[in-house]
Amino acid sequence: MSKTLITLDGPSGVGKTTIGKHLASDLNLEFFSSGLLYRVIALHNEKTNSFNLNEFEIISNDPIVCKVDGNVYKEKNLYTPEINTKSSEIAQLSEIRMIVFNILQFMFNNSKSGMVVEGRDMGSVVFKNADLKIYLDASEVTRSERRKAQSGNKESVEDLRARDLRDINRKISPLIIPDDAIVINNENKSIEELIKIIKENLKLQ
Ligand code: DC
Repeated sequence: MSKTLITLDGPSGVGKTTIGKHLASDLNLEFFSSGLLYRVIALHNEKTNSFNLNEFEIISNDPIVCKVDGNVYKEKNLYTPEINTKSSEIAQLSEIRMIVFNILQFMFNNSKSGMVVEGRDMGSVVFKNADLKIYLDASEVTRSERRKAQSGNKESVEDLRARDLRDINRKISPLIIPDDAIVINNENKSIEELIKIIKENLKLQ
């Protein structure tokens, strides 16, 4: 049986993780948020002052726990203002992007029935052959309001804007709308409506 792969890309706070988790559970697929890997690497760099990543182990998925060269990193420490910024900064480095690329490919190859994976370059670079590519968008005001409502990740409008600009303008794998993606505006839609739209598009592929 062939595996299903759905990519969700878009700017910060647009709802990719919320939608992705619902969609994955609805379709019986695994879900993964690629930003977590950049966040773990940023925290590892903060702690060790190096980008040495000889052994990278994902111990648990939700909430994420990773072990990098003997250091354990937990999801609850990955959403600080410092890591929000630093993860976006280190994501500009080609060596780091290559490591994340390889981990994600490995995860998909090892998934049972497939994955819903979210990020900034999932459909454009990492999984060019995905079955369905979604690009979610919403205004900066809406995205920032959503961020404020999230207990674990309060990010100011200014920080969110700076991060988005860095992610959009970087040289390697910037945030773009993949050529063959379906663009959905997530301004005033319920999760149920979005899931319905995405599932209808999946059937059409
Ligand atoms: O999705 P997130 O907010 O957890 O991502 C944190 C940062 O990681 C984001 O600002 C840029 C980087 N990132 C990336 O460059 N490419 C991805 N596919 C996912 C995240």
